[in-house]
Amino acid sequence: MCPSVILNQLSSEDQKFLNALVKKGGPEPHEYLELTAIINNLEDTELEYFRDTIKESLNENTLIGHGYIKPFGYPGDFTIIHNIYKLYVNPDEKYSNWDRFFQDQAGAHAVRNRKDYFLKRCAEVEQQEGDEKRILILGSGPATDVNEYMRNNPHSKIKFDLIDFDQNAIDFAKNQNADFTDSIEYFKINVLRFKPYHWYDLIWSAGLFDYFKDKHFVYMINKYYKYLVSGGEFIIGNFSHSNPTRRLMEVLSDWYLVHRSKYDLVRMALEAETKEEQVEVEMEELGVNLFLRIKAA
Ligand SMILES: C[S@@+](CC[C@H](N)C(=O)[O-])C[C@H]1O[C@@H](n2cnc3c(N)ncnc32)[C@H](O)[C@@H]1O
Repeated sequence: MCPSVILNQLSSEDQKFLNALVKKGGPEPHEYLELTAIINNLEDTELEYFRDTIKESLNENTLIGHGYIKPFGYPGDFTIIHNIYKLYVNPDEKYSNWDRFFQDQAGAHAVRNRKDYFLKRCAEVEQQEGDEKRILILGSGPATDVNEYMRNNPHSKIKFDLIDFDQNAIDFAKNQNADFTDSIEYFKINVLRFKPYHWYDLIWSAGLFDYFKDKHFVYMINKYYKYLVSGGEFIIGNFSHSNPTRRLMEVLSDWYLVHRSKYDLVRMALEAETKEEQVEVEMEELGVNLFLRIKAA
């Protein structure tokens, strides 16, 4: 530890409150505001004490703990995303209040909303003329979104190409989509290196570009939007500055994203040599997840 950093303790009142939460497996709804206020007001120098106080809850039995422990080496892995989609709550009372609290956060709602947004875009592609349509997904994770689409549209004419660099994510996605092998192809590779050999009606990415620096973001647009068919679209999800769950993710799960504004997204699309008339930004209903839509040139 750097000797010049002074670590602050929490107030005894806050510590008492947090100890009580740990005992009963997390906050109850009437305590959400107080806990959120404590978290939002924490200084970085208080983080260590805070996490130490709730350490019995920061393990793999809770969603926040899973984020913190990072069993696959990175935050936002396929299991946590799948569990957000499935509204999973650990049935063990020692942990369930924490999971209910996490699933109630705007950030978790926004992740579920982005799945609905994706399903709508797939339905639009399905309606377009032609016998076969192609969708490429960058950073496909659990592919629970694809699974929902295919279960609801078993005769779909869409072929999905899924890219993820985590073999565990690919295995999980393959396993849950075993009934749809004719419609889905998997590629275990870094999206920065993948070389497409098809052109796509939709290129979709959510939960990936929020980890990229601007220069990689721009590089990725430039690299992939050339692989759109005429009339095709590249849609990129990114958490917005107005994410009220930001500090909570950082404090409880050591989960840091690059939050961006609508302006940031348009600026990077233009830097990637797209034209203004090709670009628009939408958002899901909470305004937490933005979607940069780039139409084929
Ligand atoms: C937060 S998950 C999102 C999953 C999915 N898109 C969704 O929204 O349900 C991000 C996924 O991207 C993958 N990933 C992160 N960086 C990657 C990279 N450079 N190349 C390929 N996959 C990557 C991770 O392994 C993880 O499965």
